[in-house]
Amino acid sequence: MKTHKLFILFSGTGSNMINLIRTLHLHEFVDNTGCACRIEVVGTLCNNPQAKGIQALQEFHIPCVVLSHKGLERHEYDTLLVREIKRYDPTLCVLSGFMRILTPIFTQHIRAINIHPSFLPYHKGAHAIKDSFESNQDFGGVSVHWVSEELDSGTIIMQEKLPKITGESLQDFESRIHTLEYKLFPQALLEALGLRARN
Ligand code: GRF
Repeated sequence: MKTHKLFILFSGTGSNMINLIRTLHLHEFVDNTGCACRIEVVGTLCNNPQAKGIQALQEFHIPCVVLSHKGLERHEYDTLLVREIKRYDPTLCVLSGFMRILTPIFTQHIRAINIHPSFLPYHKGAHAIKDSFESNQDFGGVSVHWVSEELDSGTIIMQEKLPKITGESLQDFESRIHTLEYKLFPQALLEALGLRARN
């Protein structure tokens, strides 16, 4: 049976990564020719040695490379990053809360998707949830897109709006955004791989 190999990058809590592992890792799917195949998360990488996600990964026995960016220029870091990823020969690389601006050294060599906690093209950048909460729009959202050279700007794979609730706190809004992420990200990942659930 064909195996689609995923490599996941993260920087912090890793809750989306853990959700992807629980939902997809070693599960079987069907491709668009009707053939059964499976997904395997072959490795992960974190740029932050203090990240909670490193601990959370332990029960799954999936390798985690800790590669700190401290003291390195962006191009130096991305050269090491690309080298590490290629060692695992993944079908697809998944940016799951990987808080780095990537250089063409990465974007030209690695086929990757990213999750962003806003309805793109609105609220690009690192403070998307707060920016979208404070905006005049009556919705936030979640987007999953292909990674391109421009930050948070690649082709959208899937996105969904999240209507705001009058009077809700930033914390409540954020928690609803994360709930939507846990639903949308696995679906978008399957879409990116051209896979669907087995009946
Ligand atoms: C998520 O909101 C994701 O959209 C953003 O960073 C956050 C990562 O959270 N890019 P976690 O590490 O998955 O808990």
